[in-house]
Amino acid sequence: ELRVEAKIVLLPGDGIGPEIVAVAEKCLGAVADQFGHQFHLQSALIGGIAIDQTGTALPDETLEVCKAADAVLLGAVGGPKWDDPTASVRPEQGLLKIRKEMGLYANLRPIRTYESLLDASPLKNEIVRGTDILFFRELTGGIYFGNSGQREENGEELVFNEMAYRPSEIERIVRLAGEAARKRREKVTSVDKANVLEVSRLWRRVAASVMKEEFSDVEYDVVLVDAMAMHLLSRPRDFDVVVTGNLFGDILTDEASMLTGSLGLLPSASIGSDGPGLYEPIHGSAPDIAGKGIANPLATLLAVAMLLRHSLALETEATAIENAVDGVLEAGHRTADLARGGPSIGTQEMGQLVIDALSR
Ligand code: NAI
Ligand code: MG
Repeated sequence: ELRVEAKIVLLPGDGIGPEIVAVAEKCLGAVADQFGHQFHLQSALIGGIAIDQTGTALPDETLEVCKAADAVLLGAVGGPKWDDPTASVRPEQGLLKIRKEMGLYANLRPIRTYESLLDASPLKNEIVRGTDILFFRELTGGIYFGNSGQREENGEELVFNEMAYRPSEIERIVRLAGEAARKRREKVTSVDKANVLEVSRLWRRVAASVMKEEFSDVEYDVVLVDAMAMHLLSRPRDFDVVVTGNLFGDILTDEASMLTGSLGLLPSASIGSDGPGLYEPIHGSAPDIAGKGIANPLATLLAVAMLLRHSLALETEATAIENAVDGVLEAGHRTADLARGGPSIGTQEMGQLVIDALSR
């Protein structure tokens, strides 16, 4: 049996962040005990709490410990306290900076529906049932990072943002997608707008060549982004791994999250080629319920599963957490966000049920 020793940094952040990360910490301890690993956990500051204590959303010390770690788990940042739009330091700066500084160019977002929660989706059960998609969104290039500017033309202002990609940026994320597909249903779908955009034609050419040369065993197809927006709502089950640029990925992953209908269940990962990855729930700091002990910890526990799988190559342990979450939901346990007004349990209780299910 493989015994792993790993350094994991916890960044609880703001709002419900500390509550859900506390559950994750307990879960990591349980996994270590059960599988004989040694996880060295260390907490650091990010977001609003970091602004309060140090004047910056990402203290140098936090960045240093994160870079030296094997993986980083983040709760959430932000809240009304730091919402003044004129403030020069803002919590989300911490997130953007840590992603950039750590070279986390691939954002992974799995979209799975749960048989016991199909009714949470606004779509029909028979459409969303069995959906299991893993998105790879390029995170550090494309239009969000291109040149922008403005000028006057014919007496009118003109503002522009440039969408640019290099072959190397496309290659590396398609490669990650291909590798992930091999561990799943062996299918990659690349999404672009190659009928209109030159940058998409480059994307399509580079993606096809990586897939052909390195992943000939993996099924590969391409879909235009506008068609993809429809397919996600009509036949989501047909997709396994989906890889796309920053802008298209931003929009499609938010659309896809509605297939499940429950924010409190969706994890995400931001990873680079080597070095530590950053794992987090996709939801925010939920200031409206912070401190009440009712936040759903499952997205964060599923982020822990992603951390174990992608940063520590602990597939068995990752699957054990995912199966435990399945089982607990299957048994009918619900936090308030999933309970539809019915009986509900709190953050710690839900976390403990998952941890207990791990050892069964
Ligand atoms: P949000 O995701 O924090 O909350 C949206 C709604 O979902 C709220 O009603 C909240 O109570 C509920 N919710 C979210 N997570 C939940 C959980 N685990 N269990 C139960 N209910 C949950 O988004 P919102 O309200 O737009 O933003 C709140 C703050 O979070 C803002 O300051 C925003 O900037 C920040 N934010 C931070 C993110 C991050 O750290 N990655 C991502 C999104 C927002
Ligand atoms: Mg978004």
